[in-house]
Amino acid sequence: MNIGCVKEIKKLEFRVGLTPGSVNEYVRHGHKVYIETNAGLNSGFPDEEYVKVGAQILQTAKEVWEKSDMIVKVKEPLADEYQYFREGLVLYTYLHLAADQALTDALLAKKVKAVAYETIILEDGSLPCLKPMSSVAGRLGVIEGAKHLEKVMGGSGILISGVPGTKRANVAIIGAGVVGESALKMAVGLGANVTVLDINIDKLTYLDDIYGNRITTLYSNSHNIEEACKNADLIISGVLLPGAKAPKLIKREYYKNMRPGSVIVDIAIDQGGSTEVSKATYHDKPTFVVDGIVHYCVANMPGAVPQTSTVALNNSTLKYGLLIADKGLEEAMKTSKPLKYGINTYNGKCTCLGVCQAFDLKYEAI
Ligand SMILES: NC(=O)c1ccc[n+]([C@@H]2O[C@H](COP(=O)([O-])OP(=O)(O)OC[C@H]3O[C@@H](n4cnc5c(N)ncnc54)[C@H](O)[C@@H]3O)[C@@H](O)[C@H]2O)c1
Repeated sequence: MNIGCVKEIKKLEFRVGLTPGSVNEYVRHGHKVYIETNAGLNSGFPDEEYVKVGAQILQTAKEVWEKSDMIVKVKEPLADEYQYFREGLVLYTYLHLAADQALTDALLAKKVKAVAYETIILEDGSLPCLKPMSSVAGRLGVIEGAKHLEKVMGGSGILISGVPGTKRANVAIIGAGVVGESALKMAVGLGANVTVLDINIDKLTYLDDIYGNRITTLYSNSHNIEEACKNADLIISGVLLPGAKAPKLIKREYYKNMRPGSVIVDIAIDQGGSTEVSKATYHDKPTFVVDGIVHYCVANMPGAVPQTSTVALNNSTLKYGLLIADKGLEEAMKTSKPLKYGINTYNGKCTCLGVCQAFDLKYEAI
């Protein structure tokens, strides 16, 4: 198969769909790989590294889209890229279609076979191609939160670890999934006082077993969330109700009892956010202040650390990408149920229930 990888054109997105390591695997399996020039530069991979493992560098995105049977990307295609869609093309990337009707319509109209990383689902319900980015975002969330607690960044001016003779910062983590656990690891490592809230008692039990009295676990209900917010210097939200909008657990009325300059890192912003005032921000202006509380709401946090994120993403996506390349999408989905769940549009049909429900489209199983 001819595989192509183009440079991401979303604002301040520095990741790339294929690493030289992944290209090497595709080439060893007998496939041809086209890379747009400088596509990997921001992730630390110059063109020469791709050439060394057998890729061909092309000068424009147009050539890559046109020569490829499958395009491997990171973010959803933007409007400028719709012109390259054509019948039979396999598109393998994050899509988040339920939040993007224009893209859904374009993929259906052009009969693209679109496979979304975020809807590849394993038997236990976990999302293998979303997990690495949640691990990045949870860890990064604590680093960004600690930074924005600095006075010059608009925060209250507390050092997350404190120093001997002073208080440590209080960190509340709402949602103990992949984001929450990753944030917890980081916050404990930095020496903060950490409270974790979730509605899943099994998860809280697991974390209590691991961290013992170094953390406090609390069942997530309005009362406990309000109390945790009142005491917190830094709040990290990694709440997720699969397929639904994030619940607005952090009410604006809580702000009047919170410390001025406290920071909320709302990692669930890509699902709408967990506060009543959350709105998506970008890396170049990541925060805004409401009632004295600093809100950090960047929707593509992993894009800030592309050297880590690109490699972590490829570690999860390569397996399914190779399967598609080796067998063709039709045979590949017969051998892999998780991959079949990933197919969102196929020959003009909407094949993902969540997307069909979002736009009142007919669901057609494949
Ligand atoms: N902003 C970014 O750049 C970025 C990057 C990666 C992931 N995310 C987002 O972060 C969110 C979390 O992702 P994840 O992989 O950790 O999901 P996950 O499914 O692993 O974890 C979600 C957790 O939320 C818990 N939860 C559900 N309702 C709750 C409630 N009422 N109170 C407390 N906890 C509750 C669940 O029990 C679960 O433990 C998702 O929306 C994901 O898309 C954002």
